Amino acid sequence: MSNSRPHVVAVPHRHVEPRRITFEFEGTPRHWFGGNRVASVAVDALNLLFPAGERFFVRAVRHHAALVDDPELRAQIRGFMGQEVRHGLEHERFFTTLERQGFEIQRFLRFFERVGFAFVEPRTSPALRLSVTVALEHFTAHLAELALREGLVEAMHPSVRALITWHAIEEIEHKSVAFDVLRAVDDRFALRVAGMAVACALLGGFFSVAFVDLLLQDLAMGRTAETSGRLPFDLRRVGLVRAVRRYLTPGFHPDQRDHEALLAQHREALRPAA
Ligand SMILES: [Fe+2]
Ligand SMILES: [Fe+2]
Repeated sequence: MSNSRPHVVAVPHRHVEPRRITFEFEGTPRHWFGGNRVASVAVDALNLLFPAGERFFVRAVRHHAALVDDPELRAQIRGFMGQEVRHGLEHERFFTTLERQGFEIQRFLRFFERVGFAFVEPRTSPALRLSVTVALEHFTAHLAELALREGLVEAMHPSVRALITWHAIEEIEHKSVAFDVLRAVDDRFALRVAGMAVACALLGGFFSVAFVDLLLQDLAMGRTAETSGRLPFDLRRVGLVRAVRRYLTPGFHPDQRDHEALLAQHREALRPAA
């Protein structure tokens, strides 16, 4: 519980610092992900969730920050918040590109704000909000690994590839921060399970609404010169159920997966843009 005494947890040293990069989306085609409509629209739908979702993560973690004594974790929290704020801003800039491509997105964004943050958020406890954040951070780290390890970014238009590569790297860099805050303030396994259940319901619900909304609009706009029917990745590799099962294993910690080599390989790609 948020008002209980914090536990002492061993926090591994990790450098978490936001990079100030501004991306250029001019000329991004509608089917920017391997020319595939479904893949492009699916990531566009996620894109609609990121800015408000990441601001929610920041609120949820900040609420508990004062309970954390460990200077290492406190520094990581600052880095985490800085990274998430920057992600939200850059993904929000992509909204203009979506609108230029012909999508009406304000209707969904209003619905998302009203249901997710005006209605659901105030009706949940701070501990549950933190646990939901930790579960969603597990998904972002999982998707980030997928994007980088499975070469998904290679099939993306360069403008979006740069945005996704940067976001994926930073999600992996701060993958354990919210988790360690939750461990420090309330380490009940039941709370972690409840957070995952609520996260699945909210993410599944909002993603589906955004995806169907954008897909119907995209179909109405028709094919483009680059449209191809082939999905640019193997759907079976997405592995969301596997990710949930790993998360629900007692003793799970995000650091159990070693991402250092993957990060080193892709940080290189960011360098020219930095
Ligand atoms: Fe993020
Ligand atoms: Fe994150």
